[in-house]
Amino acid sequence: MPAHTIFKERSSRDRGVIQQNRLMELHLYPGNQCNRDCSFCTVFGSPKGNYAEYTQTHLDAVLQTVMLHEQGAVKFYGGEPTLNHENVIWAIAYLRQHGYQGAIVIYSNGIQAARLLEILESDPLQNTTASLNYSITTGDGAPQMPRQSLERLEQYEIDHPGTIAIGHSDVVDSGRGVEPFSGETTRPKASSRCPHCYPVLTTEGKFHACPFAIENQAPHFQLGTVNSSPETIAHNFQAFFDWLDQVHEPFAAEHQLPACTVCWKHLEQLPPPEFREAIAAQS
Ligand SMILES: C[S@@+](CC[C@H](N)C(=O)[O-])C[C@H]1O[C@@H](n2cnc3c(N)ncnc32)[C@H](O)[C@@H]1O
Ligand code: SF4
Ligand code: SF4
Repeated sequence: MPAHTIFKERSSRDRGVIQQNRLMELHLYPGNQCNRDCSFCTVFGSPKGNYAEYTQTHLDAVLQTVMLHEQGAVKFYGGEPTLNHENVIWAIAYLRQHGYQGAIVIYSNGIQAARLLEILESDPLQNTTASLNYSITTGDGAPQMPRQSLERLEQYEIDHPGTIAIGHSDVVDSGRGVEPFSGETTRPKASSRCPHCYPVLTTEGKFHACPFAIENQAPHFQLGTVNSSPETIAHNFQAFFDWLDQVHEPFAAEHQLPACTVCWKHLEQLPPPEFREAIAAQS
């Protein structure tokens, strides 16, 4: 049976939800170190990439920023989370010990299948699931993961339905982007409307507005730091969404550009969002 009939795509949830200065979802990014270097990779993943571990300071900021109840979602990506699975397991335990009850998702290429399963199994609430890289799972656009890894993950999903999903096949123009991509020509590559993702907290301590543009240092994405108050982060995230709708999308439509191409190549032509200055944290 082909892999993508065993692993299902996840349905996406509401975008931009904020309650009492807490975001419904947050991505966590420790750098772009990876055991692959996909031609299309939005974060420039590579074995020579950067990496810094999750720490208490970083995770305390997560606990202040994301919804702690069942509606919340914390998504670990990179880079490749299985390269230091012990730090991810420690981070999950820390979040659970400090009251986080929401979902946890691990984005992974699945090559280190045993480590990925160890991460999923470590969650005392059994609410950690995986999302696999579409190209590395199917072999469309990147060398497929080893047969042994794939079979192990397939069997796990058969035994525990709904724990391992497959990512979307779309390729956006960010990072290494679209042009070097060698996959199936029918895969969608361009949309003029930003998908309005939830933001990222990096282990460098910065809140960045977009997981696809995480290696883009433009001021348009800088929402604050671990020292910013939760109100500032929530305000700036909302300001970024307002800017997407009022400035970014009209520019993309007028110039007939894919949304991510505007962020990647044309931001100097656009004024940044109206961010509140990052002010000192409450603690
Ligand atoms: C950057 S990777 C990091 C986690 C892990 N290494 C992996 O590949 O799943 C996270 C997700 O971004 C996706 N991705 C990478 N480059 C992309 C692009 N140009 N457009 C759309 N998705 C992309 C990957 O397929 C993967 O599902
Ligand atoms: S898409 Fe994932 S597996 Fe591929 S290089 Fe990027 S981070 Fe690594
Ligand atoms: S349009 Fe910009 S903000 Fe939206 S996903 Fe693409 S790079 Fe990110």
